[in-house]
Amino acid sequence: MAMEPPKVYIEDVHRYEGQPVEIRGWLYNKRSSGKIHFLLFRDGTGIIQGVVVKNEVPDEVFDLYDELTLESSVIVRGTVRADKRAPGGYELQVQDLQIVQKAIDYPITKKEHGIGFLLPRRHLWLRSRKQWALMRIRNEIEKAIIDFFDERKFIRIDAPILTPSACEGTTTLFETDYFGEKAYLTQSGQLYMEAAAMAHGKVYCFGPTFRAEKSKTRRHLMEFWMVEPEVAYATLEDIMDLAEDLVVYIVERVLETKQHELEILERDTAPLEKVKKPFPRIYYSEAVNIIEAAGLPFKPGDDFGGDEETVISKSFDKPVMVHHYPAAVKAFYMKRDPKEPDLALCVDMLAPEGYGEIIGGGQREDDLETLRQRIREHGLPEEDYEWYLDLRRYGSVPHAGFGLGLERTVAWIAGIHHVREAIPFPRLLEKIYP
Ligand code: 4AD
Ligand code: MG
Repeated sequence: MAMEPPKVYIEDVHRYEGQPVEIRGWLYNKRSSGKIHFLLFRDGTGIIQGVVVKNEVPDEVFDLYDELTLESSVIVRGTVRADKRAPGGYELQVQDLQIVQKAIDYPITKKEHGIGFLLPRRHLWLRSRKQWALMRIRNEIEKAIIDFFDERKFIRIDAPILTPSACEGTTTLFETDYFGEKAYLTQSGQLYMEAAAMAHGKVYCFGPTFRAEKSKTRRHLMEFWMVEPEVAYATLEDIMDLAEDLVVYIVERVLETKQHELEILERDTAPLEKVKKPFPRIYYSEAVNIIEAAGLPFKPGDDFGGDEETVISKSFDKPVMVHHYPAAVKAFYMKRDPKEPDLALCVDMLAPEGYGEIIGGGQREDDLETLRQRIREHGLPEEDYEWYLDLRRYGSVPHAGFGLGLERTVAWIAGIHHVREAIPFPRLLEKIYP
C-alpha cells in the first residue's frame, strides 16, 4: 500500500516543499481555463491554491470541479511547490480530491453584502477573509495582554460574572433572578480586584463584562471583554504609566506578528508606528478647550460623548490621556484630588484617529467615611457595599487601577469602523442572534 501523505496545515506547507501532503479544509474559490483548474482551499490557518491539470489526474477527480461549490468541505492531496506568484508563496499540485460535504448555495458570496445581511449570518461570516484576520488580531492582543501582566508579575484573579451590586452606575444593569434575590451581570470586575490587590499587591482580571447600553453607536456593545489591573499603593500617576506601557506593548506586538492580517484589513500601519512613549497627558479642562476651539456645542462640566472624544483624539497622533474630570460626572469610587476637591483623580485614554476612549480608570477613594458618603450620594444601597467598605476598615491603602476595553482596542488597531466586528458574536442593542 502506498504511504499516506502527512496531514498538514496550510500554515506549515513551507516545511514540505517538493513533498506530497494532505490538506483538510474548505473550498474558498475556484476558476478554470478548461484544461487546468485553479482551486483556492482554506483550512483555517491559511489559503493555498491547488492546481488540477487534466492529464495528471484521473478524469473523475478532474470532473469534480463542476460539483465543487463554495465552502464545500474537501480533503486534497498533492505536492507542495514553491511559487513566488502564489498567495503565501506555495501552491499544491493536486493529485487527489475528495468532497466531504457539498455546501449548496452558501449565502455569503464574493460580492459586497450589507451589515443587515451579514450580522444574522455571523456564524458563517466568521469564515470571510477580513473577519478571519480580525479574530487572529484579537487573539494576539489577548495573548499580549496576558504576557504583559505576567512579565510584570501581576496575579490573574477571576472576577465573578454574577454580582449583587453595581460598579458603573445603575442605569446599564442586566438584572437576573438569583434564588429570589436580585443579581446583575457584572459591569466591571474592579471592586473585586480592589479586594484582590489587598491580598496580592498587583492583580488583574480579564473577562466578559455587561452593560445594558441603550445607545446604538460604533463604540458600544452589550457584552464586551475588559482587562482590569489594580495595584495597591499606586497613584493616578503610576496607573497612567502602566496604561501607557500596556498600550505600547500591545501595538508593538501586533505590528511585529500580525503584518499579514493587517494587510488583509488594508490597515495603514503608519499611525500605529507612532504609538510610542510618552503619550500626551492633558487635564479635562484642556480637553474642553480643544472641543470649544473645534466649535462643538458642549456644556463644560459634562462628561464627553462620542463626538467630543472623536475631536479630542483627532488632535493628537498618539493615544492621549485625559485626567482630572469633574468628580460629579464620574463613578462613586473615584478619589478626588485633595488640592482640587471637585476633580477626580481619574484618567481616560483616548485612541487616535478618532477612535476615542479605550481605557478608563484612576485612583480609588481609600477613606472609609468619605467612601460611605459617596455611596449615599449616588443613591446606592449601602448594605450591598459593606464588604467593599471592609477594604477601607482593614488596612486601607492608596490604590489605583483601570479597565481597557478589548473590542475598542481591537477595532482601533485593526482600523475597523465598528466594534461589532471586533468580537466573535456581538451582542448589540435588541439583537442577540446567533
Ligand atoms: O470606563 P469604564 O466604564 O470603566 C470601568 O468599568 C472601570 N470600573 C474600570 C476599572 O477602573 N477597573 O470602562 C472601561 C473601558 C472603556 O474605556 C471602554 O474601552 C470599555 O471599557 N467599554 C466598552 N466597550 C464596549 N462596549 C461598551 N458598552 C463599553 N463600555 C465600556
Ligand atoms: Mg469610561
